[in-house]
Amino acid sequence: MDVDWDELREVAVAAMRNAYVPYSHYPVGAAALVDDGRVVAGCNTENASYGVGLCAECGLVSNLAMTGGGRLVAFVCVNGDGETIMPCGRCRQLLNEHAHPTMLLETVSGVRTIDEVLPDAFGPRDLDRFAQ
Ligand code: THU
Repeated sequence: MDVDWDELREVAVAAMRNAYVPYSHYPVGAAALVDDGRVVAGCNTENASYGVGLCAECGLVSNLAMTGGGRLVAFVCVNGDGETIMPCGRCRQLLNEHAHPTMLLETVSGVRTIDEVLPDAFGPRDLDRFAQ
């Protein structure tokens, strides 16, 4: 599947402009291409109870589920200057759950696979052995 990284970054920047960040003042926007061609996005949404603030990727995976699910093929997230940033560790786990096996991420060190940014990930298959 061809990835238009410029378009994906533009969607992430547009999402970033909706961020609710009265505490960190650090807006983040995330965008991803889905395996059926959809593009999903999210922005960070903070909270007066700081620890329950939501990263942009939380909104993105919710957007994915709400619009029909599917597998994430390509992903980028940006800061308030529109610069590409790395998804935090927790968010790499969130993305991995919904990743296409060959998912690509634009990162601060170039385009990487999901396996490169979250090696030996714990995932749904680890739970199979104990499934009821
Ligand atoms: N943040 C994200 O939205 N995604 C990330 O992957 C890194 C961090 C947010 C959380 C918080 O609202 C702000 O950036 C500063 O940490």
